[in-house]
Amino acid sequence: MVKVLVAYYSKTGNTEKVAKAMYDAVNVPKDILPVAEAKKMDHYDLIFCGFPVMAHSVPEKMAAFIKGLPKGQKVALFATHGSLRGGQLPRQAFESAAGLATDLKVLGQFGCRGKVDDLIIDALLKKPEHKAWAEEAQGARGNPDAADLEDAAAFARTMVGKAM
Ligand SMILES: Cc1cc2nc3c(=O)[nH]c(=O)nc-3n(C[C@H](O)[C@H](O)[C@H](O)COP(=O)(O)O)c2cc1C
Repeated sequence: MVKVLVAYYSKTGNTEKVAKAMYDAVNVPKDILPVAEAKKMDHYDLIFCGFPVMAHSVPEKMAAFIKGLPKGQKVALFATHGSLRGGQLPRQAFESAAGLATDLKVLGQFGCRGKVDDLIIDALLKKPEHKAWAEEAQGARGNPDAADLEDAAAFARTMVGKAM
């Protein structure tokens, strides 16, 4: 039986929602922990690592966690982001995450949009060089939505199947 950990970093709750949907979806022994609490860990066959995309990359807290995992550990990466799904910027963040995990076995990755803090949107709308991104990110107001959480659940089940 595969034992699963869902570890996540979430500043405003979007990634946490996705993490919980993944945790609820899998029918195996499992734990869910904010990354700050995932210190001395039991052995897990599969670790989901979730983070908000920040400055096109992986926030330091999650980067440090990924770097500290034992060699050969099976992981599944997931992220929420303000940019459109499938765009170049979120892809860059997954590439950074995969770059940290070269000694690990990355079974897959999942991304969906997450509402961007209004204060950040307002600040970026005022800067000509960031206005276009801020306008795009406003479209993530309702995310993650029910469809995102269903996709996340399906992804989690697929990853557990792969880890068996
Ligand atoms: C400081 C900061 C930087 C961000 N940078 C990006 C970015 O580069 N690309 C992007 O798509 N979203 C970016 N976002 C938006 C977050 O990734 C998005 O809102 C995410 O869903 C937040 O997740 P959380 O609620 O789990 O913290 C940024 C948000 C913050 C606060």
